[in-house]
Amino acid sequence: MIDTVLLHSEFQKRFGREGVAFAAPGRINLIGEHTDYNGGFVFPGAVEQSITAVVSPNGSDKVNVYAVDLGQECSFRIGDQQGPESVHFRYVYGVVRELIAAGVEVRGFDAVYGGDIPLGAGMSSSAALECCFAYALNDLFGGGRLDRMTLARIGQATEHKYVGVMCGIMDQFASMHGRRGSLMRLDCRSGEYEYYPWNPEGYKLVLVNSRVKHELVGSPYNDRRRSCERVAQLVGVETLRDCSWQQLESVKGSLSDEDYRRARYVLGEKDRVLTVCDALQKGDYETVGQQMYLTHKGLAEDYEVSCEEIDFLVDEARRLGVTGSRIMGGGFGGCTINLVKESLFDGFVASVRQSFKSRFGIDCQIVPVVIGDGARRV
Ligand code: GLA
Repeated sequence: MIDTVLLHSEFQKRFGREGVAFAAPGRINLIGEHTDYNGGFVFPGAVEQSITAVVSPNGSDKVNVYAVDLGQECSFRIGDQQGPESVHFRYVYGVVRELIAAGVEVRGFDAVYGGDIPLGAGMSSSAALECCFAYALNDLFGGGRLDRMTLARIGQATEHKYVGVMCGIMDQFASMHGRRGSLMRLDCRSGEYEYYPWNPEGYKLVLVNSRVKHELVGSPYNDRRRSCERVAQLVGVETLRDCSWQQLESVKGSLSDEDYRRARYVLGEKDRVLTVCDALQKGDYETVGQQMYLTHKGLAEDYEVSCEEIDFLVDEARRLGVTGSRIMGGGFGGCTINLVKESLFDGFVASVRQSFKSRFGIDCQIVPVVIGDGARRV
């Protein structure tokens, strides 16, 4: 977590008084990728890397925020209909507008924020930013009235309406509901969820960040979602969650090859999540790992959200005997999530660092995973 002392002193320097600190984390996802907007299951956990904001009401109708990491500031009025142009600050603006729409009387405030979630790594730094402000403003102006799921949906609505990414609920859900030491299985259709203590004896989870960034803002993510919606509509179900293999095959002739392959990935991923739940109950991490590799294959070949650098990282993982590896998050770059036997861990990290550097000239970043808590006052 970023040094809160530093944020407090920056706040004091800029605004001449004290503020209150809030934090919301990024997330990992063990399995269940691109299933959330298809009404399926996801298996995320919050991480320790977070966005932290020091916030205080200022008695006016003006919002003044300063992003320490970017060295940029932004001001807007609460009633402003357009909002800032910079995408980064639109997350804060969108959350303010959506909280007001949900009945929280947000007034002017000052804020300073920063974080340690690698940007564009597929660890949901934008969801963390939304959740941090949603949690903080609901606390300061709404007396904590809105529950965590409502706040998660406010974050998601911000992406949809103010940023233009038609994301599912996984990232904001995980950032709001995370619990130290536990992964969560969320049914994205019903909103029901369960905590799964994550204590894989003899194994470690580690992310390898390729540092290759492809922004989700724009079409590729939304295109995938639209493909799935077209198939669901043709089959006559609300989402692909309710589409069987038979139903998919029965409409195959009326689908483009691309839409067919997108749906085939989603149906396969539904089955894999259930296989993983079963394997986790038995402590069978080898099966969990095999399913991760299969997810990667589907994401690369059918869903087409991987890239050369990430495929290389997954191939290296396999070559080095890693139990499971796949691209994580929305895709188009970012990081791989790897389930590695403890005995192989140091060797894997050293080899992958070196081979990635010699192939692409980039220092990949190794990010150890510690499952942490969700949004909170700090
Ligand atoms: C992004 C989105 C999520 C989810 C993942 C893919 O992180 O924000 O809603 O769709 O991609 O699983």
